[in-house]
Amino acid sequence: METLLTANQASHQSREARKTRDYGVGLPARRAAVGLLTAILVKGQPLDDALVNSPASREMLSMAERDRGLARAIVSTAIRHKGQLDAVLDAFIDKPLPKSSGPLREILLVAACQLLFLNTPAHAAIDLAVHQAKQDRNARHFDRLANAVLRRVASEGPALVKEQNGPRLNTPAWLWERWVKIYGEGTAQRIAQANMAAAALDLTVKQDPAAWARRLNGIALDPGSVRLSSPGRIEGLEGYDEGGWWVQDAAAALPARLLGAIADKHVADLCAAPGGKSAQLAVAGARVTCVDSSKRRLVRLNENMARLDMDVTTVVADAAKWTPDEPFDAVLLDAPCSGTGTLRRHPDIAHLKGPKDLKKLAALQERLLRHAITILRPGGVLVYCTCSLEPEEGEMQIERLLDDFAHISIDPIRPDEVFGHGGWINGQGFLRTLPYDLVIDAHESSGIDGFFAARLIIGQA
Ligand SMILES: C[S@@+](CC[C@H](N)C(=O)[O-])C[C@H]1O[C@@H](n2cnc3c(N)ncnc32)[C@H](O)[C@@H]1O
Repeated sequence: METLLTANQASHQSREARKTRDYGVGLPARRAAVGLLTAILVKGQPLDDALVNSPASREMLSMAERDRGLARAIVSTAIRHKGQLDAVLDAFIDKPLPKSSGPLREILLVAACQLLFLNTPAHAAIDLAVHQAKQDRNARHFDRLANAVLRRVASEGPALVKEQNGPRLNTPAWLWERWVKIYGEGTAQRIAQANMAAAALDLTVKQDPAAWARRLNGIALDPGSVRLSSPGRIEGLEGYDEGGWWVQDAAAALPARLLGAIADKHVADLCAAPGGKSAQLAVAGARVTCVDSSKRRLVRLNENMARLDMDVTTVVADAAKWTPDEPFDAVLLDAPCSGTGTLRRHPDIAHLKGPKDLKKLAALQERLLRHAITILRPGGVLVYCTCSLEPEEGEMQIERLLDDFAHISIDPIRPDEVFGHGGWINGQGFLRTLPYDLVIDAHESSGIDGFFAARLIIGQA
């Protein structure tokens, strides 16, 4: 269909086309950042998912690595500081933006994030945002508003940010309120503060953490992790191809170790993919059966095991129903959970999950746990763990199980099994780490995922 343009429209279009060329360096990254933020905040898609399966991820395929990195950095910073950014923007927007403004809110968030937290020169962040607004058929009616609001963000925003309680604002109310209730306000504030920093990269090594720490310029953490502060591309790191290590937070590496000496024992890893804990069990010499309900995730587990040159058996099944031919000596149940202990790595979780998800997940965990105790031999050991800070997914699950089954007892976890950190073990002998735990001299490499783990012994039913 032919489109007739007035002389004015034609000259406007060619001006915009020129600008698009001029903005060549910065525009693709900002466009991708707005697309990813929209996927998370409007469509409810997790960031990891949006990075491989969204219109923005498809655009990113043709972008330079530098631009892709910038887009990711903007999005994770914006999500981590979302409460603060919203508060600053709202101070300069008189009435709520109408639905008809399209991606305007996300465009403003991306620009404000650059102005307030990424040291981007004001003219660049504002011009790119206004240009993006003009290019969108809905947001274009608000280009002047975008310009006016962002100018105020640039000039008055930094003073507002100084006065804010960032950790409090950046924690959605549902999480803040429950953490205050469970842990008290001081601890909730420390958890929320820790969540504002991106986590370092931890590797679990097959052997000799000190030697790997030297090779990779990292810090060796007892008893078998290496921490890297600015690692770059994981596949490019020394030792990746030779399968000397795998990515796993130092806290996530604790539960598998709680099974103790498992050489030659038959161990079931329930909910195993992508296999971080399966690899630990295999290194410890166990005969490992990995069960997961996701075929796709088990394919990834198998790829990981091939790289690491490890041999495990895999089963695609619902672990709440699957029954083996022979009972196991030990079971590790790393149950699917809300992941609220991993917000340093996955800040989007706080905005995607809510109390309803918690209820559903707790019901699934209960089914998995109650089935897991049936596939163990008498005297067998069960380690149950979740990367959640919520007692419904941890302590309460075990307490209910113990109330209902007299033949199950707690085998208390000892400080020497968890880096010597007695403070991580509660009065019942359960492991409970919080994201601000594991303080290491340089602040940027401190912290650990929030994990719960309990070790149980199965008696005669
Ligand atoms: C926390 S992740 C496991 C991480 C893994 N243990 C590791 O260390 O790499 C939870 C896993 O549970 C799986 N899952 C969820 N529901 C399940 C079920 N009913 N039966 C078996 N696996 C399930 C998911 O596919 C996911 O891979």
